[in-house]
Amino acid sequence: TWTTEAFVDEAIREIRAKVGDKRVLLALSGGVDSSTLAFLLHKAIGDQLTCVFIDQGFMRKLEPERLVKLFQEQFHIPVEHVKARDRFLVAIAGVTDPEEKRRRIGHEFIKAFEDASKSLGPFDYLAQGTLYPDVIESADTNVDPKTGERVAVKIKSHHNVGGLPKDLRFKLVEPLRKLFKDEVRKVGRSVGLPDEIVQRQPFPGPGLAIRILGEVTEDRLEILRDADLIVRQEINRNGIYNQLWQAFAVLLPIRSVGVMGDQRTYAYPIVLRLVSSEDGMTADWARVPYDLLETISNRIVNEVRGVNRVVYDITSKPPGTIEWE
Ligand code: XMP
Repeated sequence: TWTTEAFVDEAIREIRAKVGDKRVLLALSGGVDSSTLAFLLHKAIGDQLTCVFIDQGFMRKLEPERLVKLFQEQFHIPVEHVKARDRFLVAIAGVTDPEEKRRRIGHEFIKAFEDASKSLGPFDYLAQGTLYPDVIESADTNVDPKTGERVAVKIKSHHNVGGLPKDLRFKLVEPLRKLFKDEVRKVGRSVGLPDEIVQRQPFPGPGLAIRILGEVTEDRLEILRDADLIVRQEINRNGIYNQLWQAFAVLLPIRSVGVMGDQRTYAYPIVLRLVSSEDGMTADWARVPYDLLETISNRIVNEVRGVNRVVYDITSKPPGTIEWE
């Protein structure tokens, strides 16, 4: 029978046999796959592993700092924190089309990754959190005809765009390739990853940038980060985090009239998107208590500068999608 202990032992043996004394690069995202991967590799090859975290500036409030701290201080795994916010903001400045925004962020990610691998490298291997369903699809890898080895031509980031440049093709280490997602969670838990990673709700690669409709500016990002933090705090306080597939805020680039004290306001609305789902393919808006909605709404309008209205998205998927872009 399959046990996490047997899997971990076998994975470590396999990584050591494959990598030998060579260096491995890993792109950490904070999700359960890349975190579990980092753990296994670090256990297997120690400082032959370099973990790079490309911080696009589109993560949730406090999450980048928390991730780096967790890895470095609690797990003693060094992380190269690449603070790339400025170049990503420049890359999508003025862009309002959702597909174009995603394309540019994906493209910039590849460039930032390439820069990091050049300045920290050279590396022989790229560690990827490929899971069994990805192997079956296998669109992101080629097999080297001479050696039969899988070679990365794309980075399996959560951006589905962008091929790797020809001179930057790595051999792959993919110790999770026989696992399904629930098995990765079990392995992650067994090596000591905390619930905040193992049970983390899905978060899109382009992050908050696709939850700000229209143009993304630092000002709007700050507003959304603050509103989103309130959503998470109240969902956690209510104890329903694990029951929801996702719970987040979206900022609309329009303004409406409100009144605060005796002052007329003219500010952005925030959309609450709370959904239940089994797999993300279909989803339903969550029937949460009105009191919870009220608390979230009051807190956002009172505490977040630039927001004067909160609306609840009651659209299922299909016909809606979970994200707004
Ligand atoms: P939609 O909006 O298509 O989203 O209903 C379905 C699920 O996929 C997540 N999502 C993404 N995940 N990179 C990701 O890794 C992305 O670019 C991306 N876009 C959407 C979304 O959060 C939901 O869980």
